[in-house]
Amino acid sequence: MTDDTIRGFLKDNLSRKRFIHSCNVADMAAELALMYGEDPVRARFAGLTHDIAKELPRRKQKELASRSELNVSAVELESPPLLHAIAGAQLLREKFGIADQEILLAVRYHTVGAGGMSKLCQIIYLADLVSADRDYKDVKKMRKYAHTSLEKGMLEALRFSVCDSAEKGNTIPPCTIEAYNEFALLNKALLNKAKGKKGEDTHE
Ligand SMILES: [Fe+2]
Ligand SMILES: [Fe+2]
Repeated sequence: MTDDTIRGFLKDNLSRKRFIHSCNVADMAAELALMYGEDPVRARFAGLTHDIAKELPRRKQKELASRSELNVSAVELESPPLLHAIAGAQLLREKFGIADQEILLAVRYHTVGAGGMSKLCQIIYLADLVSADRDYKDVKKMRKYAHTSLEKGMLEALRFSVCDSAEKGNTIPPCTIEAYNEFALLNKALLNKAKGKKGEDTHE
């Protein structure tokens, strides 16, 4: 399997707009990987392929997702827009022989997040949200957070996702709540540590 084979598949199975989005996510993923000490080649590949199943027929997405051996909740299976991430990871494994579990998990969790995400998973989650083609209201703010630290970027991205889903009356998968709690606690701990450090520094 070569990168050209994957690119060819993406070109044949994605609209031009989605293909450009995928290339932008790949660029952003490589940029964040270099910034945060992750392998830019694997990040670029995961970014390029994260939406590989997005425009396959819904029936095909369901079929792929049903064969996934990754952890999938009932809430996700009942939410059609989330299926492409699970289906994408499965497609990469069975059609293209991708065995790198971190890449597969990065594709699988790019829409919902999860507890215990690897650095690569976090990078793909953020790159999808702040790639050059994104133009939602708070994208500049989100881009700044993603470039501040992975922890801050993930917390703000998950906060945005949880609030947006709740406001729209959509369901929230348990793995998203797990991820949110994890990053909320982590950021609190980092803040307390920084405050303690500041207190120490100002002590006579
Ligand atoms: Fe996606
Ligand atoms: Fe995407």
